[in-house]
Amino acid sequence: MTRKIGVIGMGNVGATAAHYIVANGFADDLVLIDIREAKVKADALDFEDAMPNLPVHTNITVNDYSALKDADVIISAVGNIKLQDNPTDDRFAELPFTSEAAKKVGAQIKASGFHGKMVVITNPVDVITSIYQQVTGLPKNHVVGTGTLLDSARMKRAVAAKLNIDSRSVVGYNLGEHGNSQFTAWSTVRVLGKPITEIAKERNLDLDELDHQAKVGGHTVFHGKKYTNYGVATAAVHLANTILSGAETEMPVSNYREEYGTYLSYPAIVGRDGVQEQLQLELTEDELKKLQISADYIKTKFAESTK
Ligand SMILES: NC(=O)c1ccc[n+]([C@@H]2O[C@H](COP(=O)([O-])OP(=O)(O)OC[C@H]3O[C@@H](n4cnc5c(N)ncnc54)[C@H](O)[C@@H]3O)[C@@H](O)[C@H]2O)c1
Repeated sequence: MTRKIGVIGMGNVGATAAHYIVANGFADDLVLIDIREAKVKADALDFEDAMPNLPVHTNITVNDYSALKDADVIISAVGNIKLQDNPTDDRFAELPFTSEAAKKVGAQIKASGFHGKMVVITNPVDVITSIYQQVTGLPKNHVVGTGTLLDSARMKRAVAAKLNIDSRSVVGYNLGEHGNSQFTAWSTVRVLGKPITEIAKERNLDLDELDHQAKVGGHTVFHGKKYTNYGVATAAVHLANTILSGAETEMPVSNYREEYGTYLSYPAIVGRDGVQEQLQLELTEDELKKLQISADYIKTKFAESTK
């Protein structure tokens, strides 16, 4: 069985994701699409120049929506990152551009006959994931946003740095919007098997400060180079590979939660059928309130974008 991935939007993020896929042979067939024809053709040629020195081969197709008909996964990294360079670090500044782009791209994906799974990176990701789902008509569990998979990684990085351990020894979640209303659900966080709330008492950790570091992590990277790419591309390709391989892995991704009436990040089991099962966490009253606020915020913004 061949593995076919499409990457739409070959800017900083899409190109990084595509390179990660090509360098590791994660797909047999890769379809690259961008309205900047010269740029996407140049990237494809550059990847082909890498191949003689790689242990894996990838067949690359450029700017052909019809090639997406039998793709397993499409990654959307469409966007206009310059719009994110605003004084309030608001990811919604990109919405007027990306909502229109997602409607156009979504219609072309639908026309191609694509019936695989979508992994959405484009910001504001929870709203754009909803738009893609509506426009493509794909089942809700087949359209997934990277959501707080990245923010949870940023939280793990902040906790690990504080405790001087490997970030993979931290488990737990940031929940809600991939944006300013997200939060770390500390009740879910364990370090080397121990609840972080206990460690915080023993070692006098300031969890609010660590939460802040996770939340502003993206802005810190952004201010350094005017885009972010490695963290998110790694998260998106991890999600795509989890779908391709049917790994059935628990991940905090943006998925449609009926009780909140919106896409938002909440852990789910991801596998070949996309979001296969939605988990139910035992959150504290405070965390439940924060999640509701985040859900309401995403819903309001989604309603505005579809007016
Ligand atoms: N979800 C996350 O965690 C996360 C993290 C980082 C970036 N992002 C988002 O990812 C997106 C891409 O970021 P970037 O830095 O690569 O931006 P970028 O501006 O460098 O690249 C965007 C690319 O999309 C292309 N594009 C725009 N409209 C298109 C269309 N209709 N069809 C095909 N291609 C189109 C552009 O030509 C450009 O190459 C942005 O929305 C950004 O905010 C999300």
